[in-house]
Amino acid sequence: MAVRQVLQMGDPRLLETASPVATLDTPELHELVKDLIDTMEALDGAGLAAPQIGVGLRVVVFELDNNPRYPNVPPVPRTLLVNPVLEPLSEEVNEDWEGCLSVTGLRGVVPRYTHVRYSGFDLAGNSIVREVSGFHARVVQHECDHLDGILYPQRMLDMKQFGFSDVLAATGNTGVMPCDT
Ligand code: NI
Repeated sequence: MAVRQVLQMGDPRLLETASPVATLDTPELHELVKDLIDTMEALDGAGLAAPQIGVGLRVVVFELDNNPRYPNVPPVPRTLLVNPVLEPLSEEVNEDWEGCLSVTGLRGVVPRYTHVRYSGFDLAGNSIVREVSGFHARVVQHECDHLDGILYPQRMLDMKQFGFSDVLAATGNTGVMPCDT
């Protein structure tokens, strides 16, 4: 198990565009994916992108288990995507709270497409194609943004809806995202 250090906002590596993975199923790629999953689990995150641990490759993982505290958030199966491609399925956008393991302690309201199709590859080179909506769609958009050097505050429209998660919770803000990605 290798829990890696997660880069924090301000580190210029988080603003770089990641490169496509050229060859699947290599020992290096397996090791990277294991580190991503180990790190995501150790920090109780819902997702993690390779650039967040300082690796400039287009690889993301995400997962959300059933959480009794947030019964309205449907679970997202653990998914590894190599070279993901996103496509909105409609112009519909919704706003909701997000957090990020690279923006520790903060939450902000971010607009995202409600319905998207995403595709990519697993470690063995099998194609993955899914059409998703809601929280699942939000997490994928957040993770894929990391591959293009975009952190969620750059997507925010109203900086009044940005704050420390513990303060937001203590002052009665409901619906704040359950986890960081
Ligand atoms: Ni993030």
